[in-house]
Amino acid sequence: MEKKNKKAGFSNRLGFILATAGSAVGLGNIWRFPYLAARDGGGLFLLIYLLVSLTFGFSFLVTELALGRRTQKHSLELFGSIKPRWNFLGKLTFIVPFLIMTYYPIIGGWVLKYCFSFLSGQGKATATNNFFSNFLNLPGELIFWMLAYLFLTSIIVYFGVEKGIEKFSKIIMPGLVLIIIGIAIYSLGLKYTDINGETRTATQGLKIYLLPNLNGMTLNKFLEIALDAVCQVFYSLGLSMGIMLTYGAYAKKDTNMESAVQQIDLFDVIISFLVGSIIVPAVYVFLGKDAMSQGPGLLFISLPKIFNTMGLAGQIVGAIFFIMVAFAALTSSISLLEAIVASSIELFKVSRKRSCVLNSLIIAFLSIFVCLGFNLFYFDFKLPNGQVGQLLDIVDYLCGNFLMPLVAFLTCVFVGWIVKPNFVIEEMEFNNHKFKSKNIYAFTIKYVAPIIMLILFIESTGLLNLIYSLFIKN
Ligand code: PFF
Repeated sequence: MEKKNKKAGFSNRLGFILATAGSAVGLGNIWRFPYLAARDGGGLFLLIYLLVSLTFGFSFLVTELALGRRTQKHSLELFGSIKPRWNFLGKLTFIVPFLIMTYYPIIGGWVLKYCFSFLSGQGKATATNNFFSNFLNLPGELIFWMLAYLFLTSIIVYFGVEKGIEKFSKIIMPGLVLIIIGIAIYSLGLKYTDINGETRTATQGLKIYLLPNLNGMTLNKFLEIALDAVCQVFYSLGLSMGIMLTYGAYAKKDTNMESAVQQIDLFDVIISFLVGSIIVPAVYVFLGKDAMSQGPGLLFISLPKIFNTMGLAGQIVGAIFFIMVAFAALTSSISLLEAIVASSIELFKVSRKRSCVLNSLIIAFLSIFVCLGFNLFYFDFKLPNGQVGQLLDIVDYLCGNFLMPLVAFLTCVFVGWIVKPNFVIEEMEFNNHKFKSKNIYAFTIKYVAPIIMLILFIESTGLLNLIYSLFIKN
């Protein structure tokens, strides 16, 4: 009986698509994608992202959902249940959501802070140049908003009311899409003249965003951009974290997975591209090209400047926008915490409620440290990709650019060479559904993906950089 309840999962295809898309669309699309796109100079990043999303992203999403549905297991046990020696891969995937959760609530807290500012009529202040950096300098405030966000996430997972939130996200998601399209159209007309008399327009910014610029491109730079793009696809779709395995286990056997995956994939890409088309040109217009490499704060620095140009309406649009982003983020962090809680129940044989409380406390403790990385424990750290960052960037790099390609590589080896692609293909064709891209899928998962993931993994360790500077540059 209990099994039946657990597997009740999604009642139909639409429910499955919406829930999966709700988990996928989050801060990864709205906060992480635009700052990576801006930092990597737009165009080329975008092109690689699109290609990877429609090939690798699609293949991995298929793999994870089909593995989950076929085995009806969570990530922790899944690999070991097929091949006992691969049990370690389940454990490794468990680390990723945990690491992400040590900083996702911090960004969520920033969103809450902005919601609060707009709702309390202080939205204009958020558009001033030092608002965001001043905020980062206040450990108490940062921690307060992070805890508030984490509390919201935990309370939903604790009482298991995700279903209620999912219903709500059916309204929020289309609303978010509409408001993003509205802001994108509005911001196309932006223009700004800085103190040096230079006038910059949004269309110039859009060109930078869309057109690849290969000037001064080196192999190393190209690999760095590719690493960012590939890892962002994984982050954005919630892959290599065990979450989609679980969602697969909840999907109905008669759902046509191929078209469902295509729709989820496409929806995720479109949201990211649209948000990028607002943020990147806006940074260019208001702050100039150099500011594009500013990093994680980009959303919080450039967007308020757009709202500021809308006058009073901007305060309302700003409030609605940040509230919707908070919801989109919540649906994602709920699935992150849910994955952690579910895995801990299996690993440590504790009750659901206890697992939720304990994990949330550990996450809160670690997140406080990460918050302090912006102020009390401030230090600059050079990442293997040459970027300078603080604690948050280090943790983000560690899971986003290092662990995820590793897990992805191992998953390719597991599916491509150990259990063989047919294991997934058979599941995709269950119930006489056609899996149209099965040949491309098998080829990708067996040959293309593992080679590329391995190269990117080595790149993420900084080793390629070293080899390059030792042998090629001289
Ligand atoms: N895909 C989410 C985002 O783009 O924000 C992040 C995420 C959510 C990752 C849930 C993993 C996950 F399980």
